[in-house]
Amino acid sequence: MNVILFGPPGSGKGTQSQFIVERYAIPQISTGDMLRSAVKAKTPLGIIAKSIMDAGGLVSDDIVLGLVKDRVSQTDCASGFILDGFPRTIPQADALISLLDGIGKKIDFVISLEVDSKELICRLSGRRTCPVCGKGYHVIYNKPVQEGVCDSCSAALVQRDDDSELTVINRLNVYEEQTSSLKSYFNKSGVLYSVPGSGPINEIQAKISSILDSGVASDHS
Ligand code: AP5
Ligand code: MG
Repeated sequence: MNVILFGPPGSGKGTQSQFIVERYAIPQISTGDMLRSAVKAKTPLGIIAKSIMDAGGLVSDDIVLGLVKDRVSQTDCASGFILDGFPRTIPQADALISLLDGIGKKIDFVISLEVDSKELICRLSGRRTCPVCGKGYHVIYNKPVQEGVCDSCSAALVQRDDDSELTVINRLNVYEEQTSSLKSYFNKSGVLYSVPGSGPINEIQAKISSILDSGVASDHS
């Protein structure tokens, strides 16, 4: 089962990916996480990506495609994967479809998480992440048991560099301008499923499960 989790910054792609990984035993492929690892390791790619990410822009299609191409061919993706944060442009989507076509695969579901922009800003400003295991939290909506400490590995939680207010606003604009049109792109292929992304995290999980389990959406856009 090959899934794209789609939605604007802060819509819950990472949060819901964690649950799909556990329930369906397929890996998450997050281009944002891969780029942040490259930035942290100060690789040549990471050095190029850092200033773009800090400003809330998109890293070039070529760089991102290179990352995804290697990843989907790995053996743990044989029975499926979740793409989180990719594709983000029409050329990325075209390249993905042709890449999968070449290895006899296709996208089965594009789950689009719908959340209004006021809520997105509030979510991103309160987000905290574990620098060790990558688990995500929110200071109000998704608190760790002990404030500021990861439940899984006890590391001190951090705030992402691109979660400052100005950068968040730019990321939301970039999403509207360059990424949101992918919804109609995937709708044309009949694989787009819109899910309201507001409300309790477990209720959103249940809606996603019902789509992935049955293949029949209650709200097929
Ligand atoms: P990326 O890491 O992909 O970030 P993003 O798309 O901006 O999305 P986020 O990770 O910020 O949000 P999310 O949807 O995962 O939400 P989360 O679950 O954390 O990309 C970062 C950058 O990398 C890009 O700006 C770009 O520069 C570059 N990049 C990446 N991919 C690229 C590509 N393909 N092409 C070019 N450049 C690329 O949730 C957010 C918060 O809300 C958390 O605190 C969470 O606890 C909370 N929350 C989640 N669900 C709920 C809920 N139901 N109710 C209340 N709070 C909730
Ligand atoms: Mg994310």
